[in-house]
Amino acid sequence: MMQKETRTYMADLASHVGEEVLVQGWVDTRRDQGKLVFFDFRDMTGYVQGVVLPGAAAHEISAKIRTEWVVEVTGKVNRRPEKNVQSGKQNGDIELEILSIAVLNEADTVPFDVTGDGRDINEDVRMKYRYLDLRRPRLQRNIRERDRIISFFRDYMHKHRFVEIETPILMKGTPEGSREYIVPSRLERGKFYALPQSPQQFKQLCMVAGFERYFQIARCMRDEDLRGDRQPEFTQLDFEMSFVKQEDILSFTEPMFIEMVKTLYPEKHFTETPFPRITFRESMEKYGSDKPDLRKDKSDPNELAFAWIVDFPMFEKDDEGNIQAAHHPFCSIKEEDEEKFMKGEDLFNVRANSYDLVLNGFELSSGSIRIHKADMQKKVFEYLQINEETQRRKFGHMLDAFKYGAPPHGGFAPGIDRVVMLMMNEPNIREVIPFPKNGEGKDLMMGSPSEADERQLKELGLELKKQTNK
Ligand code: AMO
Repeated sequence: MMQKETRTYMADLASHVGEEVLVQGWVDTRRDQGKLVFFDFRDMTGYVQGVVLPGAAAHEISAKIRTEWVVEVTGKVNRRPEKNVQSGKQNGDIELEILSIAVLNEADTVPFDVTGDGRDINEDVRMKYRYLDLRRPRLQRNIRERDRIISFFRDYMHKHRFVEIETPILMKGTPEGSREYIVPSRLERGKFYALPQSPQQFKQLCMVAGFERYFQIARCMRDEDLRGDRQPEFTQLDFEMSFVKQEDILSFTEPMFIEMVKTLYPEKHFTETPFPRITFRESMEKYGSDKPDLRKDKSDPNELAFAWIVDFPMFEKDDEGNIQAAHHPFCSIKEEDEEKFMKGEDLFNVRANSYDLVLNGFELSSGSIRIHKADMQKKVFEYLQINEETQRRKFGHMLDAFKYGAPPHGGFAPGIDRVVMLMMNEPNIREVIPFPKNGEGKDLMMGSPSEADERQLKELGLELKKQTNK
């Protein structure tokens, strides 16, 4: 048994030249040159090359060891001779002269290489073994960068007097224009919770509660068709502010993004600052899209073309031609259009105080200044053909809350997954989410969604209809 010593991390080895150290981690690569056996070892902080010299005590065991085994190694940190220095590589100027290796756990041959970038490996196979896929340096980096970005935002918010408030996951539906996931209640059979499509209603209620500046790194769930920039669950930097106008939200958000980029990704540059502001109508006319890609050089991985799209319409037609809220029913109406709105005229040309932030052709965020008066909110519901009874049943709490001194308020919700994807130049958000679902909404590793067992269904008072082949 090896003597217990203090562990040294790969990232700290350079300051231990000439000393004997103990490292722990995985065997990343192994090259057997007969007399000499070379290893690269890996831990959470990086890599080091180790060598077993001829006649060393570790020679016998080093013949058995394979990649991805978990090992504990003692060795001497030597400076490499000039000709063997690999500049630009972590610990490229040192080498571990291996004295002993203890195997902490063996590993079967892994189903795919975890040392490369993995882009040529079938994605379903990567997903099935996501815990191995995550070992590759690209994904380790993406997940760690995600944490850096989230911490930056969290600090920024706290520095600006925001308070992070957790809102419920088991809730009542919120209309964000997508299908919601529902969860059956056991205690009240036949009733269901909905999972939040976003904390929209709760964050507005936090304003009524007097917090004035709320934020949350919020998980949102939507049962929609998936694309590269859409997952059934995703994360928002959700925030809301009281006593603000549209200009306040824009001029709070813009410097936050600029500072995030300058602090974390100084190699990147902006196509234009201040970010251009384009009306929805102008954007549709000029670019045929409400998320135009305004980069000057689309092949430059460091170019960031942010733009604001403003003055979205309040209403639009759904696929069946029925009126629906373009963003959500809580957006306030632009002052210039209020008269039309009150009269119920030309509703599809009534504009809301709502805005998006786009980046390189992706919608990064949406937000609006909200309605904070019950009569205005009722009017929107009325235009959306939501009758009194449904209004009370679905939104009674909002209408009531607005009667008790609701301050003017508004907010925004940048999608964290998209931010990370764009900062890391990844082609889709699955690459920056630790455990994503595949294109069909399945978790291939855990095997979800999965069937509920009979007992569970019975407890919930649910019965499944036999599958029919329509
Ligand atoms: P919205 O629905 O526009 O607004 O969402 C805001 C941002 O969240 C991200 N996003 C997604 N990311 C990954 N997968 C998805 N399925 C997905 N859906 C949305 C996007 C998007 O811009 N409550 C309002 C915000 C507000 O008004 O304050 C809302 O959720 O980056």
